Amino acid sequence: MSQNDQPIKPWGGRFTEATDAFVERFTASIGFDYRLYHHDINGSIAHATMLAKVGVLTDAERDQIIEGLEAIRAEIVAGKFNWSISLEDVHMNIEALLTQRIGITGKKLHTGRSRNDQVATDIRLYLRDEIDSIGKELTRLQTGLLDLAEREAATIMPGFTHLQTAQPVTFGHHLLAWFEMLERDYGRLQDCRKRVNQSPLGAAALAGTTYPIDRAYTAQLLGFDAPTENSLDSVSDRDFAIEFCAFASLLMMHLSRASEELVLWTSSQFSFIHLPDRFCTGSSIMPQKKNPDVPELVRGKTGRVYGHLTALLTLMKSQPLAYNKDNQEDKEPVFDAIDTVKDCLRAFADMIPAIEARKENMYEAAKRGFSTATDLADYLVRKGVPFRDAHEIVGKSVGYGVETGKDLSEMTLEELQQFSTVITDDVFKVLTLEGSVAARNHIGGTAPAQVTAAVGRARGRVAARG
Ligand code: ARG
Repeated sequence: MSQNDQPIKPWGGRFTEATDAFVERFTASIGFDYRLYHHDINGSIAHATMLAKVGVLTDAERDQIIEGLEAIRAEIVAGKFNWSISLEDVHMNIEALLTQRIGITGKKLHTGRSRNDQVATDIRLYLRDEIDSIGKELTRLQTGLLDLAEREAATIMPGFTHLQTAQPVTFGHHLLAWFEMLERDYGRLQDCRKRVNQSPLGAAALAGTTYPIDRAYTAQLLGFDAPTENSLDSVSDRDFAIEFCAFASLLMMHLSRASEELVLWTSSQFSFIHLPDRFCTGSSIMPQKKNPDVPELVRGKTGRVYGHLTALLTLMKSQPLAYNKDNQEDKEPVFDAIDTVKDCLRAFADMIPAIEARKENMYEAAKRGFSTATDLADYLVRKGVPFRDAHEIVGKSVGYGVETGKDLSEMTLEELQQFSTVITDDVFKVLTLEGSVAARNHIGGTAPAQVTAAVGRARGRVAARG
């Protein structure tokens, strides 16, 4: 302890006065980086193990360090560790306590290492674990979507363009569109993981170290694919964290789109689905209200994740090599992006299986808005009418429908024949919603048979994840 009873700074040797109290608080990261303790301890254990292997530490020293670190880990887990602001960050807090506990051997742990490669290692290890749990939650959500899509493979709803009824589609097909968005997100997450899973340990402060370290060994101990190639790059770049936030932003963008549709569909204007009460809340003033808060919040939380991506890109911009203290600012955006994505995925994965389709409402809505107009045009083309003329004929029929308040399928043959004499009795087959969706029977089409087949292929892709 120093005179003012503050712990002595591990870097205090060349300093002649105490750090300004405000500066101490301003420069400290312990308020948020304590989260890295588990991975910091794992990194230190791997480092000490390697130092013993190459003869820099004795086996006894290694064991003493590992024992000390494990005891500290247990204390942190039990909530008994007092984090100190004057020890700045998680790395120095743990190392200082280790030294306090085991004495001189504790001081040897930092041989051949710097906080610069230490923090880069910790954040990669931490992010890798979170990537794996996010991947699992994403899989749970996607599986829920596939189950619902399978159940609703033949349920007819309006498909929209410009949020106006365009053509009938199946609800299962709509859900599979969400699945595909998330499938690409999953791919991006795994791609990001490859670049996260490289070991910067051994890069030391910036130039490497004079000790005979074995970087491949620490990489292997920590489950990294390989050591990074360049020490300057290793301690300075946070592109892997930016990449994670880019993944997170795209995922949130997709979840926000699905959220928006859930909000619309639960409204009394649409009333396409029923969302159980446990996912909704009420209004303190309007007793009749049941609000879709969960999807609305997911939609809203998208903004903060985009913010974190922008923050990290801006943090990294124009930074000269190698480590700069700027990089301490990488943690809060990454942590919050992780927390937000996990919560939103959990909300969605819990909510999707609970959705109940209001099939009659969907069907009625699909019937309004002349959603089979394109089918009538295609019918005319099959009877030899050029497509542009067919478009014109159907346009006139729709105009008549608007005037008389009738859907195309509700007109008599005579009424339809006013617009084209090639129309015969068989037209009614294509004007039904069932006929319309069943006719789009190719890969990627909305026909119930295609939805069922697509669900089967998608299940295969999910199963192959292992
Ligand atoms: N707390 C620091 C960070 O998060 C650790 C690295 C400090 N390195 C240094 N040279 N000051 O970036």
